[in-house]
Amino acid sequence: MTTSAPGKVMLYGEHAVVYGYPCIVTAISERLFVSEGTAVGDTRFIDAAVAAWGKPGQKFSARSSFSGKYGFGSSSAVTVATLKALRPHATNRELFDMAYKIVLDIQKVGSGFDVAAAVYGGTLYYIKNKTIEPLVIKDMPLVVGYTGIKADTVSLINNVAQKKKENPEKVERIFEAIAKLVDEAKTKMIEGDWERVGKLMDFNQEYLRDLGVSSEKLESLISAAKSAGAYGAKLSGAGGGDCMIALHPNGVQGKPLVEKAIKEAGGEVINVTTNAEGVRVES
Ligand code: MEV
Repeated sequence: MTTSAPGKVMLYGEHAVVYGYPCIVTAISERLFVSEGTAVGDTRFIDAAVAAWGKPGQKFSARSSFSGKYGFGSSSAVTVATLKALRPHATNRELFDMAYKIVLDIQKVGSGFDVAAAVYGGTLYYIKNKTIEPLVIKDMPLVVGYTGIKADTVSLINNVAQKKKENPEKVERIFEAIAKLVDEAKTKMIEGDWERVGKLMDFNQEYLRDLGVSSEKLESLISAAKSAGAYGAKLSGAGGGDCMIALHPNGVQGKPLVEKAIKEAGGEVINVTTNAEGVRVES
């Protein structure tokens, strides 16, 4: 049996989501596939899934249509896809609960939004331990650009924690402001008001910059995209590197111009579609 789970792109609310505030995540067309067979490389997540729901000696191997360096969430996708191979009839809730437990055991930190995207797919409004709400949205005019720098999620989460310890009121205020814009983004995405959705990305980026998780390379790809007409742009995920996202205007020139600008600023454009299907049995 082969199973697969999608990667994800964080749209709004990264970091704040770790502290109980909402975020919006979309599952992407890039997928991670798991089949029976001997694994190579980092097998911690597969081994933990087998220890939870499998029989001793069961082996699985993973291959993905995307590189682990992009920050698309390969650890959660491999965990979810392996659990699905072990129990194809488990409910999404059962898959989510077990996969999130495994990811937390191994990584120690994380909100679980990436696990939710891998299980449920689509585009989700997510609050840790509270809400997984699917959003019905039209095709998003999204461009994804990779900085070429692999981010270290755990140390970025720790940096924000340190900042919060030093300046709790300021950081809480930032999180609250992010939560507010995430709620507005949810409505505007459902309405398909991409201009406003873009503006809200800009606001979110300002707060992420204040949290200290942006980087020079991210900023240069973001400003390139905006100069080329993007409605808005921001980093996506932990920051420090990984990917940025931008919303391109409609029209024949909209997408190509934004993509060209990102490439000229030294970014790698990654072609993905949003709103992808969650975990599934392939064959
Ligand atoms: C990382 O992709 C997003 C963070 O919010 C961490 C998490 O939610 O697990 C920084």
